Amino acid sequence: MNIRFDFSNKNVVVTGGARGIGLEISRRFLEAGAHVAVWDYAPESLEAAKKELSAFAGRTHFQQVDVSKLASCEQAAQALPFEIDVLVNNAGITRDKSFAKMTPEDFEAVIQTNLSGVFYVTKSCSAKFKAASTNKRIISISSVVALYGNFGQTNYVAAKAGVIGMTKTWARELGRKGFTANAIAPGFTLTPMVEAMPGEARKAMEEKIPAGRLGKTEDIANACLFLATDEASYINGATLSVDGGLVV
Ligand SMILES: NC(=O)c1ccc[n+]([C@@H]2O[C@H](COP(=O)([O-])OP(=O)(O)OC[C@H]3O[C@@H](n4cnc5c(N)ncnc54)[C@H](O)[C@@H]3O)[C@@H](O)[C@H]2O)c1
Repeated sequence: MNIRFDFSNKNVVVTGGARGIGLEISRRFLEAGAHVAVWDYAPESLEAAKKELSAFAGRTHFQQVDVSKLASCEQAAQALPFEIDVLVNNAGITRDKSFAKMTPEDFEAVIQTNLSGVFYVTKSCSAKFKAASTNKRIISISSVVALYGNFGQTNYVAAKAGVIGMTKTWARELGRKGFTANAIAPGFTLTPMVEAMPGEARKAMEEKIPAGRLGKTEDIANACLFLATDEASYINGATLSVDGGLVV
């Protein structure tokens, strides 16, 4: 490893932090010395994450939060045991269906979690950042599909493209207040969901990726930690594709 991240004395909130990409982001910040609040709505994932991250028990705070509900986010922000340096908006869901079959409920559920949720969490956390810090970070996990569309994902693509739009707006509005706001656009990333796919479908995905392999959760976490460093303070309003070249 060439970069040794040091986030001691930094406080991080990771939504959807109990599983998949979010769990890896939580783990990597903890390994680098940070205090991390893991926000997730799934009790079983929170329990599993507690075991997984037990080596960092003194610096990890688990909170059951539903990002799709403003009151839940406000309550969790009030209960935070620290002032925030870095917020990672990672929680997300899918309800894939072709446009013809997608119901308004499918559309609204994904918008509510993946777009409104990012607004609610960021809004609730905004007053909980370290006021005097000039290195405050808002990092939101979008997706490559926000950049080029995807069959069966009208709802998801709309939400993830919205996240990129909000990120650019926050970069403009909050830039002078010590914040940067950036998005990460992961490509196909190996999480339990993708691991469970039939071999053929997975192979077809791999063949589309110039790097010749699927992303690992560490690939996304590495980009996230880099954007969170003080050294990344001039990267603002960007969307960083971490996709092995899928959308070049
Ligand atoms: N895996 C991929 O290939 C991929 C690609 C591009 C983008 N992404 C994005 O990365 C993020 C993480 O994806 P993942 O693959 O790790 O998914 P995952 O399903 O493994 O993990 C998502 C986590 O978010 C939590 N969550 C969902 N809704 C929530 C809510 N309302 N409140 C609080 N927590 C909630 C879940 O409980 C879960 O722990 C998502 O935003 C996803 O859209 C994933």
